[in-house]
Amino acid sequence: MKAALIAIALAAASIAALTGIGVAKDDASKDALPAGSVSRADGLEAWKRIEAVVTHPRCANCHVDAKAIPMWTPAGETKTRVHGMNIHGGESRIGAETIACSTCHITTTLPNDPAPAPLHAGIDWQLAPVEFIWFGKSGAEICAQLKDPKRNGGRDAVALLEHLRHDASLSGFIPRAWAPGAGRTTPPGSFEDHVKDMALWGAAGQPCPN
Ligand code: HEC
Ligand code: HEC
Repeated sequence: MKAALIAIALAAASIAALTGIGVAKDDASKDALPAGSVSRADGLEAWKRIEAVVTHPRCANCHVDAKAIPMWTPAGETKTRVHGMNIHGGESRIGAETIACSTCHITTTLPNDPAPAPLHAGIDWQLAPVEFIWFGKSGAEICAQLKDPKRNGGRDAVALLEHLRHDASLSGFIPRAWAPGAGRTTPPGSFEDHVKDMALWGAAGQPCPN
């Protein structure tokens, strides 16, 4: 019995090592750069790259307003439009009032299938909270929201980095924007580039364009 438990523990540990699941929370503090160590100009440069990511359909399609209508960009199309099939996130943001998002967007850490299959992730598919609205907003507006703890889930610059690492540890939505399934475009750079840019922007005091 004891030997079996140890074997399971060892197997779990090696799976974690292979997949990167269970990244320590401290990882975000490793990503963080000392406050003030980055100039405002370099922070604004980092913001430009962040803006290109957060306004990309792979991110913004979920970060929608209180109408709770998800957006999509089918393969081969460049324009984003309203999600087909009359899907509605509702106040629950997970479609509990009508048809649950997870009916089609199943919860699994398996890689995404080629478009037009529904995307999936290791956490339950859902719209971002209303305050985190990005779709249709300007870069300056998103920047102001992202650094405002009253509208970003109470997060300072380091907690934002923690959110990225935590989401990644669950095979969540954020790293998957760069692995959305064949046929879909990806935001510029890589997930790791995005973490680095968020660290630069944070250390520069989260400067925003006017
Ligand atoms: C499937 C829908 C979905 C997609 C796609 C998605 N998000 Fe989110 N996002 C959420 C949800 C849900 C939350 C709320 C989680 C929380 O606060 O714990 C969230 C919260 C966040 C937050 C926390 C605070 C804030 O101000 O928004 C950040 C940062 C974030 N997402 C970044 C991204 C980035 C970057 C991408 C693309 C690379 C992305 N998200 C794609 C659903 C999504
Ligand atoms: C009946 C099945 C179905 C249901 C239910 C459903 N979706 Fe979808 N969804 C899809 C399919 C299929 C796609 C992929 C379309 C494509 O890329 O061609 C998709 C794509 C998306 C996209 C675009 C992702 C991207 O990276 O561009 C978002 C966002 C999304 N769904 C959110 C939701 C949310 C939120 C819910 C629940 C409120 C939901 N969906 C419910 C089938 C569904």
